[in-house]
Amino acid sequence: MIKITEDIFYIGVDDEKLDLFEGQFAVPDGMAYNSYVIVDDKIAVIDSVEANFGEEWLNKTAEVLGDRKPDYLIVQHMEPDHSGSIEQFLKKYPDAQVVGNQKTFVMLGEYFGEGFPANRLTVKEGETLTLGKHSLRFILAPMVHWPEVMFTYDSASRTLFSADAFGAFGALSKRIANVADEARRYYFGIVGKYGAQVKGVLLKTGSLDIDRICPLHGPHLEGKMLANAVHYYKKWAAYTPETDGVLIACSSIYGHTAQAARYLEEKLREKGVNVMSVDLIRDDWAECIAQAFRFPKLVVAATTYNGEIFPAARNFLTGLAERNYSWRTVAFMENGSWAPVCAKQMRAKLEGCKNLIFIEEAVKIRAAMNAESAAMIEKLAEELAKN
Ligand code: FEO
Repeated sequence: MIKITEDIFYIGVDDEKLDLFEGQFAVPDGMAYNSYVIVDDKIAVIDSVEANFGEEWLNKTAEVLGDRKPDYLIVQHMEPDHSGSIEQFLKKYPDAQVVGNQKTFVMLGEYFGEGFPANRLTVKEGETLTLGKHSLRFILAPMVHWPEVMFTYDSASRTLFSADAFGAFGALSKRIANVADEARRYYFGIVGKYGAQVKGVLLKTGSLDIDRICPLHGPHLEGKMLANAVHYYKKWAAYTPETDGVLIACSSIYGHTAQAARYLEEKLREKGVNVMSVDLIRDDWAECIAQAFRFPKLVVAATTYNGEIFPAARNFLTGLAERNYSWRTVAFMENGSWAPVCAKQMRAKLEGCKNLIFIEEAVKIRAAMNAESAAMIEKLAEELAKN
C-alpha cells in the first residue's frame, strides 16, 4: 500500500514473473496492475487486478480499510488484467456496488456469465458520484483501449484516473531505467491504433485542473513526470514525430543487407543527420515499432525470402500498418540473390496508411553491396537529408 494523498491509496500489485504482456509484449521488468482506493464518507475502489493477484490485492485493500468496507468498485476497464478479481472482490464485499457504464455491464456478463450477481450502478458521460468531500466524474474514453473504457476525475484532489492511458510497462518494484521509453513502447504497442480516440479524450480532459494522473499500469504521474507525459501523449495521439532524423530498420540473414544499411547510416551521419538503427530480427518488436513512430523518416531494409518479405520485416510493417502509421517519409532497400522483389511488397503493406510520402526508387542489392547499389544508397542519403 502506498499513500498517494491523505485519503487516496495505491493498492495495486506487481507481476514480476510475467514474460509476455497480452501474450506478445516482452516485459523484462514485469508489469504492474494498478488499483486505487479513495477513503471518504463512502469508500470507492478503482479497478481490480489480474485474477492471480486477487488475494494480495484484497489483503492490501483490507490493510487500508481496517474494519471498514468499500461501498463501490469502479470498473474503468474490463480487460482481464483489471477485471480479473471482480468476482473475488464481490465474494468478500457482496454489498459493494459495481460502478460502470452500459458497455461495462455487457462485458461483465460476457466474462462472468449473464446474471452474474453484482449490485450495479450504471453511469453515463459526465455523471458524478459523491463520496463525501470527493466527487467523482466519469469521462467515457471508448477505444482507449476497449469500447467500455472510462476515466474517473476527482475534483477534490485534482486526480485523473486514466485507465490504460498514460500507462507504462514494468513492475513498480523495479527501477525502470527510462519510464518514458517504456511508456512509448506501451502506448504504440497497445493504444497506438487509436490515436483519434486518445486525441478526443485529451480534448475532453484538457480543461480539467489535474495535479496527478493515476493510470492502470506504471507509476502515477505528478509534477515534471505529469507534464512530460501529457506533452508526449499529445504528440503520440496526433502521430507527430518526437525528434528529427531517420530510423533504419533492417533484417539481414548473412549480414549483407546489414552492411548496406550501415553504409546508409554512415552516409547520413556524414551529412549531419540524426540516425538510429534497429535490428528487426533481434531487437524487441514493440521497441522497433515505437522507434518508428519517434522519427519522421523510416528506411526498411529487408531480404526477399520465399518470394516474400523476410518475416521479421513483414511483421514490423504489419505492426506499423495496424497502428495507423502516418505523416512520415518511407524508403525501402531490398536484397535478393536472384530475384530481389520485396520492396514493392513492403510498400504495398503501407499503401493503406494515410499521409505517407514514399521515396520512389528503392535501393536494390543483389546478394552483396557493389558500386551500383552503393551509388543508390548515396542517392537515398541525399534524399533523406533534405527537409
Ligand atoms: Fe491494461 Fe487494456 O488493459
